[in-house]
Amino acid sequence: MRRNILITGGAGFIGSHVVRLFATKYPDYRIVNLDKLTYAGNLANLRDVEQAPNYTFVKADICDFDTVCALFRRYAVDGVIHLAAESHVDRSITDPFTFARTNVMGTLSLLEAARRAWNGAWEGKLFHHVSTDEVYGALEAGGGLFTEETKYDPHSPYSASKASSDHFVRAYRDTYGMPTLVTNCSNNYGPYQFPEKLIPLFINNIRQGRPLPVYGRGENVRDWLYVEDHARAIDTIFHRGRAGATYNIGGFNEWRNIDLIRLLVRTTDQLLGNPEGASERLVTFVTDRAGHDLRYAIDASKLRDELGWEPSLQFEEGIERTVRWYLDHSDWMDGVTSGAYEKYYEAMYGNR
Ligand code: NAD
Ligand code: DAU
Repeated sequence: MRRNILITGGAGFIGSHVVRLFATKYPDYRIVNLDKLTYAGNLANLRDVEQAPNYTFVKADICDFDTVCALFRRYAVDGVIHLAAESHVDRSITDPFTFARTNVMGTLSLLEAARRAWNGAWEGKLFHHVSTDEVYGALEAGGGLFTEETKYDPHSPYSASKASSDHFVRAYRDTYGMPTLVTNCSNNYGPYQFPEKLIPLFINNIRQGRPLPVYGRGENVRDWLYVEDHARAIDTIFHRGRAGATYNIGGFNEWRNIDLIRLLVRTTDQLLGNPEGASERLVTFVTDRAGHDLRYAIDASKLRDELGWEPSLQFEEGIERTVRWYLDHSDWMDGVTSGAYEKYYEAMYGNR
């Protein structure tokens, strides 16, 4: 049974929920969180688990191969859940090199460290790679869904880098026989998401009376899943999934951006005590994202039928919970947007 789990990117949005779930649910595991603490990594996301006796944080870059190899030895790592990545599509358009470095070379560095550490003794080992539905490309409006058999067709530097990392993971399975899993998930939302992504950015802008920049006409469609449901899916698949397999994860929950934005405006105004529709005036249509994929929608029936996982939360309830969380944690939001948290961790852990 795997008990020494290396979680990469555990100080980020989804990673922090995965670390919290594993550290609390599995007291007899050792959870090692390897994170570089880029702008997106924030140890404040993990305040409630940082003292747990089964939890260790290591500040390091997944591209630093020697350090990664040393970690495998030091902690006798037998399971990896790999989330560390550059994750924002807009940033990948302006800075593609960083995405190739971290997402492709970083993943390769982890795979090769695992191969050397495990040295063919695959029994009880697992490399679980957390990926995205964006590798499948774009769907037509009202067309079908992405299944595990959908051909890869990435369009952004971000999705191209994630597709490449997925291919490397499968190459290690096919070439060396390494037990690997790939999960491809749809858009996540919930607490601790960096406010460059649509939902926390817009909640914060409504709070501050700033414009809400809707790309194009707001016609693009995304399939939204509450982040804790994603963390539960990872737990389920890491423990009961078939090694070598791919599982799609999604909420069966498609929303046009403009409809989601109206829901966000309504919910946020209501919780702030503003008159109904007060923040509608902030909606501002701006130039579209380059190469903006029209629609993503996941068929998660394989995961449901094989492993019994289902999303637990209705979207309206999840959005209300999320808006409430950001409004109640304005100190977190202000810390992240002011850059104060970066200065604090720089002082603690040195320059990044
Ligand atoms: P995030 O940007 O919030 O967090 C990424 C984390 O990785 C940060 O803590 C950052 O410090 C760390 N990191 C970045 N580069 C690193 C490096 N070189 N070495 C070590 N750590 C590094 O991302 P997220 O939204 O939580 O996404 C996590 C994973 O899930 C990513 O692999 C992403 O592709 C995937 N994913 C995200 C979504 C989504 O909706 N956010 C959906 C599907 C899949
Ligand atoms: O589908 C999974 C992916 O979802 C993950 O792999 C990515 O890591 C994650 O960032 C997310 O990518 P998106 O590009 O879909 O998420 P984002 O929040 O950036 O944008 C959601 C939609 O909203 C998208 O159609 C672009 C649009 N948008 C976004 C921003 C930030 C706007 O209209 N205005 C904005 O300001």
